[in-house]
Amino acid sequence: MNIILMGPPGAGKGTQAERLVEKFGIPHISTGDMFRKALKEGTELGLKAKSYMDQGKLVPDEVTVGIVKERLMETDCQKGFLLDGFPRTIQQADALEKILAEINKDLDAVINIKVIRDVLIERLTGRRVCKACGATYHILFNPSRDNNKCDKCGGELYQRDDDTLATVGNRLDVYEAQTAPLIEYYKQKGLLKEVDGAQSMDEVFQDICVALGRE
Ligand code: AP5
Ligand code: MG
Ligand code: ZN
Repeated sequence: MNIILMGPPGAGKGTQAERLVEKFGIPHISTGDMFRKALKEGTELGLKAKSYMDQGKLVPDEVTVGIVKERLMETDCQKGFLLDGFPRTIQQADALEKILAEINKDLDAVINIKVIRDVLIERLTGRRVCKACGATYHILFNPSRDNNKCDKCGGELYQRDDDTLATVGNRLDVYEAQTAPLIEYYKQKGLLKEVDGAQSMDEVFQDICVALGRE
């Protein structure tokens, strides 16, 4: 199963990825998570990415494509992969096609999770993430049992730096301008499957499994 999970910021890519990874046992490759991890470790990559992320802008393609290529060549991707938040530009999609050709792999499906802007803003500004394990919560839609602690590991919950109202607006604009054209790109290739992301998390997951033909 070689899958891309697409959708605007806050659509629920990370939330659904947690479930898909559990069900299919394939690695979750989130470029956003990789950048945040690099920043936490204080690497040059992390510091470079931070300046773009804090403004809601995309990290340059040459940086992003390189880390995805390295990751896809690791052995755990033999059994499949779930890309989340990559590709985000037509150039990245073209680069991905070349990488997959080099390692003899094909995409099976591109899942696009659709959600309208007002709902996205509400989801992003209310999101909380576990510092330790990365699990995602929402203060209203998916609260943890103890306000500030992760249900899974007891880690401390925090708000992402780019989840402030001002940055969220930029991220949604950048998505419309640079990433939304990929919907047509993958439709043309016959790979696109659209899912209504404005349902409950369980219903969205169910629809994704149906779209993949793996209920
Ligand atoms: P990234 O981390 O990928 O962020 P994003 O694409 O903006 O998406 P999010 O992670 O914000 O949203 P999500 O769809 O995962 O939603 P979630 O499941 O958390 O990228 C961050 C930055 O890194 C970018 O801005 C860019 O700078 C850089 N970057 C990353 N990849 C790049 C690339 N390829 N090229 C260049 N730069 C790149 O859900 C959101 C909230 O909603 C949560 O609180 C959740 O609990 C809640 N929720 C989820 N589903 C539901 C539901 N069905 N009902 C109610 N609430 C829900
Ligand atoms: Mg995410
Ligand atoms: Zn945790």
